[in-house]
Amino acid sequence: MKNTEISKAVRQSRFPKRIFFGYYGALLILSGVHIGLLLGVQSAHFNEVLIIVVILLFWAAVAGGLTLYTRQQVKRTYEIPMQRLADAAGRIASGDFSVRIEPFNENDTRDYLDVMIDDFNKMAAELGNIETLRVDFFSNVSHEIKTPIAIIQNSAEMLGRPGLTEQERLEYAGTVTRAAKRLNTLITNILKLNKLENQSTTPRVSRFDLSGQLIRSALLFEPVWEEKDINFEANIADERRMINGDEELLPLVWDNLLSNAFKFTDKGGTVTLREYSENGRVIVEVEDSGCGMDEQTKKHIFDKFYQGDTSHSTEGNGLGLALAMRVIQISGGDMEVKSVPGKGTVFTVSLPDSPG
Ligand SMILES: Nc1ncnc2c1ncn2[C@@H]1O[C@H](COP(=O)(O)OP(=O)(O)OP(=O)(O)O)[C@@H](O)[C@H]1O
Ligand SMILES: [Mg+2]
Repeated sequence: MKNTEISKAVRQSRFPKRIFFGYYGALLILSGVHIGLLLGVQSAHFNEVLIIVVILLFWAAVAGGLTLYTRQQVKRTYEIPMQRLADAAGRIASGDFSVRIEPFNENDTRDYLDVMIDDFNKMAAELGNIETLRVDFFSNVSHEIKTPIAIIQNSAEMLGRPGLTEQERLEYAGTVTRAAKRLNTLITNILKLNKLENQSTTPRVSRFDLSGQLIRSALLFEPVWEEKDINFEANIADERRMINGDEELLPLVWDNLLSNAFKFTDKGGTVTLREYSENGRVIVEVEDSGCGMDEQTKKHIFDKFYQGDTSHSTEGNGLGLALAMRVIQISGGDMEVKSVPGKGTVFTVSLPDSPG
C-alpha cells in the first residue's frame, strides 16, 4: 500500500483532537462542579476548614482519577503494543520466524501502530520464507551431490577389485564418467543460477540472428531425435530473424526447453520448434507430444530442484527451467506453459522485439 493510501485509511495520531477536547471538556465540567460545591458548602454555612477539606478532597479525587485514566490509556495504547513488539522482535532475533502479532484495532479504528504491526508480520513471514528457501536449497544441493558421489565411490571400489573382465572395467569406468558429468552439470548450473539471481548479470544486449541460434540449439539434439526416432520439425518464419538480446544467455533457454521436450517424449513422438512474430514481440514455441504435466506439477516446474516426473529424475537436477525463467525475466520476456497429461506440452516464450 502506498503512503498516501495509508494516511487516508488509518488514524495518524494516538492523541487525536477528540481526546484533547475530551480532557478539556472534562476539566471545564469539573471546575464547574468545583464552583457548585463551593457555593453549596458556603450556603450550608460550613466552617472554612471544612470547605477547604471538601474542595481538596474533590480535587484529590479528580487528580487521582485523571492520572489513573491517563496511565491506563498509555498502558493500553503504547506500553502493551510496544512490549509485544519488543517480545516478537526478540524472538525473531533468536531465529523464530513463526512469530506474529495480533492487530490491536479493527478496520476503521486502525492507526499507524497497526500498520507497523502489519509490516512487522509481513517482515517475519518474508524472513521465514527466505529461511525455508535457504534450508531447502542446502538440503537439495547436498542430496543432489551425495547421489553421484556414492555412485563414483561404489564404482571406484569395484574398479579396484582384481580379476575384472574388460567389459566390467569399461562399464564401471563409464558409470564414473557419467556421475562426474552429472556433478559437473549440477555445479555449473548452480553457479549460473547464483550469478543470474544476484543480478550481477545484466543482459549484454547486441543484435543477433535468433533463427540461426535456434537452429544451432536444435541441432545439438540430432543424436537424441535419431536415437528415439522422434519426428522433429522446425517452423521458423524468418530465415534470419535479427533481435536485440543477450546472445550468450538465451541459448540456456532454448537448450533447456528442447532438452525437456526430447526427454519427456517417448520413442516415435513429435517435437516442434516454432518462431514467429506477434503484436510486436518475437514468439518461440517448443511443443512436444510427450507425457505432459498435471496441474500440481505445472505449479512447481520453475522452482529450483523440482522434478515432477520421477522416471527421469536421474537425467538432470530440476534446475533447467528455474535458469530459463531467470534468463527470460532478465531479458524482459515472458514464458508460459500449456500441458495436458498424456498428450503433450507447449512452452511459449515471448521476447520484446525492439527495432535496431
Ligand atoms: N516438456 C515437458 N514435458 C513434461 N514435463 C516437463 C516438461 N518440461 C518440464 N517438465 C517437468 O518439469 C520438471 C522441471 O524441469 P527442469 O527442466 O527444471 O528440470 P529437469 O529437466 O528435470 O532437470 P535439468 O533441467 O536440471 O536437467 C521436470 O522434471 C518435469 O517433471
Ligand atoms: Mg530440464
